[in-house]
Formats: sequence, C-alpha cells, structure tokens
Amino acid sequence: MSWPKSGGFWWARDDLGFVDGRLNLAGHDVARLAEAVDGPLFLYSQARLLTNMARVRDGLAQTGRPFRLYYAMKANRFEPLLRALACSGLCGVDICSPNELDRALACGFAAADISFTGTGVSNRDLERLLAHPDLNINCDGIGMIRRVGERAPGRDIGVRVNPALGVGYGDNARLIYAGQHVTKFGIYREQWSEALATAQANGLTIRTLHFHVGCGYLDGQLADWEAAVAAGLAFLDDLPDVTTVNLGGGLGLPHQPGDLPLDMARWAATLKRRLGSRNVTLAVEPGDYIVKDAGLLVLSVTNVEMKRDVVFASVDGGFNLAPEPAFYDLPCEPVACVPRDLAPAAWRPVTIAGNINEALDIWAAGQPMPPLVEGDRIALLNAGGYAAAMSSDHCMRGAFSERLLEA
Ligand SMILES: Cc1ncc(COP(=O)(O)O)c(C=O)c1O
Repeated sequence: MSWPKSGGFWWARDDLGFVDGRLNLAGHDVARLAEAVDGPLFLYSQARLLTNMARVRDGLAQTGRPFRLYYAMKANRFEPLLRALACSGLCGVDICSPNELDRALACGFAAADISFTGTGVSNRDLERLLAHPDLNINCDGIGMIRRVGERAPGRDIGVRVNPALGVGYGDNARLIYAGQHVTKFGIYREQWSEALATAQANGLTIRTLHFHVGCGYLDGQLADWEAAVAAGLAFLDDLPDVTTVNLGGGLGLPHQPGDLPLDMARWAATLKRRLGSRNVTLAVEPGDYIVKDAGLLVLSVTNVEMKRDVVFASVDGGFNLAPEPAFYDLPCEPVACVPRDLAPAAWRPVTIAGNINEALDIWAAGQPMPPLVEGDRIALLNAGGYAAAMSSDHCMRGAFSERLLEA
C-alpha cells in the first residue's frame, strides 16, 4: 500500500509521516525500531531538534540584537542528545539543578555557556554551583541573593523577576508561571527594592535580568506574551549594570488540529519592537520547542477489549513515562505505526489506556484509530520533551529505552 507522506494528517511533515503505510521518523521505520527492543521506546530525531534550534536562532538573528541561546535540558537530558547539541555549537544550556550542571559539563558544555535558573535552591546546591565562577546564576528570590552574597561576595549574578503577567498553552493556568495567581517563581515588583538593596549590600552586580512567564504559548497568544515581556522589561530601568535580558523558554508547538504554530518572524518582530534600541544581549532558553516534536514514545498494544460502549486498547506504558497529558491535560496524539486501514474516515473511536493502576492513566479517549490488535505498535507524538525526563517508576513500570536517530 502506498500512502502519500503527508496523508492529510495535521502532524505530518517532511520527516514524519507514513511511507508505504508505515510510520517513518527521519527516514526510519518506527515499528521496526520498536521491534528491536523490549518494552517502551523513545525515539528522538537529531535532525529535527537541530532544525528547531536553527529556527530559533534565525528568529533571534532577526531581532538585530546580539543573542545567546540556551537549551533547557530539563525537557530532555538524554546524554547523546545533549552531546549532539554541545557539538553543534548552536547553543549553551539552561539548567535548574547541580546534577544537571554535572551532566551538562560531562556532555561537553563549558561553564560559561551554562545558565542556572532554579527554585528552592539549598545551601548545598549553592556550594556546588558557586564552585564554577563562570556559571551564570539567576537568583529567584531575595533569600537566594543574600545566600549567594554570603558565599561569593562581589560576584556577578542574574535576578529572576515575576512580571505578574504570563501565558501558557491553551491558557492552562498550570502552565502559567507569572500571572494573576501568585507563584513561587521570581521576585515580584513589591519586593524589588529589597532585592536590589540585598544585592548591593553584598557587593553583587546584577548582569542579567531574567523572566520566564509560562510554557507552551502559540501564535494566537503572542499579544499576551508581548504584554508579559513589556512588564518584565520594566525592571530594567533600575539595573544600570545589566548586559543580558533572558526571556526564559515557553515557546510552544501544536498538540492538536487547529493549533497554529508560532510564527518565528512575528515572534522576532515582537522582540525587536519591545527591546528597541536597548543595549543588551538577548537570551532565550527553550526546551520544549527544541525537542518535543523531535520525539516519539512507541508502545505495544497488549489488549483490545470493549467495556460497555468503549473500546479500550491497552498499551505497555503508562502516564508515568510521559506525565504531561495527565498532569497538564495536554492533548496526546496516538498514531498506529502500521495502520491496517488506509482511510482515516473509516477509523473508529478507541480509548488508549496505559498500564498503571490509576484511573487517570488514559493517553487519549475516543481517538479515531484503525482496527488494532495485540502486538500492534502505537507511537505517541510530541514525546521528545518532558516525557522521559519527568518519568517515574510508579508501579515499578518505569523501564524504557531511548535512541537518538542521528541521521
Ligand atoms: C526558568 C526556565 N527556563 C526555561 C524553561 C523551559 O521552558 P520550555 O520547555 O517551555 O521552553 C523552564 C521550564 O519550566 C524554566 O522554568
């Protein structure tokens, strides 16, 4: 059977689609790769993540400002993937824990190309971070500024502020990090004078203004994002020594039909408009945007059974392997790797259920699917970010394999 590559699916693209009726990623037959391993398999396309990175770089170049790009490794810390990014020279890395620092260094990133922005930072964490004088450290609270000052007086630091405006995928409140709802992240305007005084009292120089206002914003939310950026930039007025403005991550990608991808030209134009002629280096630290759509989670169907009026297809991996759909209600798109039926119009609703003893362990409910039988492979799309990295061993079902497809 021969399908056009795109097949009319909203998620299909040049490197992801059906070839002769079999799902291919970056020129690889997904089902065949899955057959070669036991259990759940994450596949990541190196070409795709480098393309995503290049797209952000092109956008940043259009702003006319000097820029730094840090990959947020909390999204995916698979070592071959990190090494590929380090080798590419396209980016530094954003970290949020000392263990991430160790891994970033081991994978080839220099301390000067690493930016730390964490939360709940302990003194033990600080000892490990401050051992690297070149590391960029952004403080997300007044206490952290004080404790950095006590240990490294005279150091350059960044401060994470909370502009009290934010944006996230589908306006999901759990993905907004700086909005009406008070969050733990960053320093609020009313704390600002105390934060500045604390830095000054400890001889710290604030070189970076940082804010990260939410995760997953798309094209339709650019106006809200711009408002948040403007509110963040307002803190610049009190920072004569700042050289860098770090806008965090949060760039989103489509999860379901109708989601419009970010238009990089509009994104860049927004930044250009807001930054104007300010003499600063622009930094961003995207995670999801780089890796999420470069990855799939491939699972096997273990059982197909009708319960009342619902057809359940159970698979050999649960929400513990990719928690975002359950935690954040993010849409999840399951795709049969070798569909038996050529015509999506004839597909029937199936509920794809994981293997964890929790009622919320449903990948997708009522998803139109071709007929499925035991042993079929299903790929969950957009599994390259915050999936393996967030996984747990709940029910002792945490085992999986990962593979970076280098070509
Ligand atoms: C400080 C900071 N920077 C960057 C990111 C990366 O966000 P995203 O993967 O949505 O781009 C996060 C994610 O939570 C973050 O907290």
